[in-house]
Amino acid sequence: MCITESKNYIDFSFTQDGSVGLYNRKVEDVYHSVFGALSEAEEKFAAPLNLSGNYLHKKNIKVLDICYGIGYNTKAFLKKILQTKYKGKVYIDILEYDKKLVTISPFIKDNLFKKYPEVSYILLANLLNEIIEDKAALKDILLKSDNKKFIEPFYRSLIKNKYFLRYSYNPLGQNNSFLHNIYYQCISQRNKRPLKRLKIHNFIIKPYFDDARNTIKSLNNKYDIIFLDAFTPAKLPTLWSYEFFKELYRLSDVNATLVTYSNSAAVRHAMLEAGFFAGKLFDKQHRHCGTIASPNNNLILNKLDEYDTGLIKTKAGIYYKDANLNLTAKEIIDLYNKEKSESNLQTPSQYIKKYKTEKL
Ligand SMILES: C[S@@+](CC[C@H](N)C(=O)[O-])C[C@H]1O[C@@H](n2cnc3c(N)ncnc32)[C@H](O)[C@@H]1O
Repeated sequence: MCITESKNYIDFSFTQDGSVGLYNRKVEDVYHSVFGALSEAEEKFAAPLNLSGNYLHKKNIKVLDICYGIGYNTKAFLKKILQTKYKGKVYIDILEYDKKLVTISPFIKDNLFKKYPEVSYILLANLLNEIIEDKAALKDILLKSDNKKFIEPFYRSLIKNKYFLRYSYNPLGQNNSFLHNIYYQCISQRNKRPLKRLKIHNFIIKPYFDDARNTIKSLNNKYDIIFLDAFTPAKLPTLWSYEFFKELYRLSDVNATLVTYSNSAAVRHAMLEAGFFAGKLFDKQHRHCGTIASPNNNLILNKLDEYDTGLIKTKAGIYYKDANLNLTAKEIIDLYNKEKSESNLQTPSQYIKKYKTEKL
């Protein structure tokens, strides 16, 4: 494990599936599962989407990736859509306040490059302006000698040698020839078949570098798919409040699917209050691995059961509040703790004990 110097609170390491994972020492939370950053995104975010049933018939698919980080959820989604014959346009809006992470995301070893080089190419083609604007992210983070092992080898020499690190002014023509080079050196060589149907212009990715609470206020799209991958609610509750879910509901198409890794009763309660129907997600071993929500109850395969809905009515279901979407994390936690200490609701342990006795 090593520490980047410019963002000296982020540690890089390899997770068990060979993809790079990050840890944030300020928040004291991981960005990704140690078992596999890519596998986690595939299992918890991409797999639960019923793409063929719900979205592939549409002319456009609109995705909102909240907390993009280094992009695993978008990457897992791109991989999944590239496996289909979808010919429409795919719009992905990415919300992330740490611009440097977005900038380095196409180059990171993500365990996808060998089989799906198109994924990082699509990101690169869409994010090149931001990458050029913020060359420091590549120089300060990726090219530090300790960090080189975390860069996809194909990109390592390109990042080091190519013009965009040497010149401050990059005319459009140079950018295009840079992309052209990558396309022919890498994608066309390796992927004759997908190349035929891969239309790069069908993928439109737009980054928003701000607190996601500010960005969503300004958005007016109706999204088909929403990924919510914020840090653990108890550590950073800012993107888990009732008011935030209200905004997400406003931005959801009638057949939208929102997926998150959180199983928390408070999060589920906030979703329900905001107007969503919510259900459970399971991994391959049939363990709970998150929550799915939609304005359309028919899209929820595994509904919340009697136990889950009971738990929501206890103190565990008290959700975070952030009336104007501008409180600090500490203010949100203080409000939450106050409400919890003043509440007469059953504690979750009382509820679980009673539930078990009654059911046995
Ligand atoms: C658990 S990580 C998500 C990992 C990410 N999905 C990936 O594939 O790398 C949480 C991310 O949310 C970002 N974040 C946290 N609070 C945010 C906020 N209020 N607005 C925008 N981004 C935020 C952090 O910078 C971090 O990258």
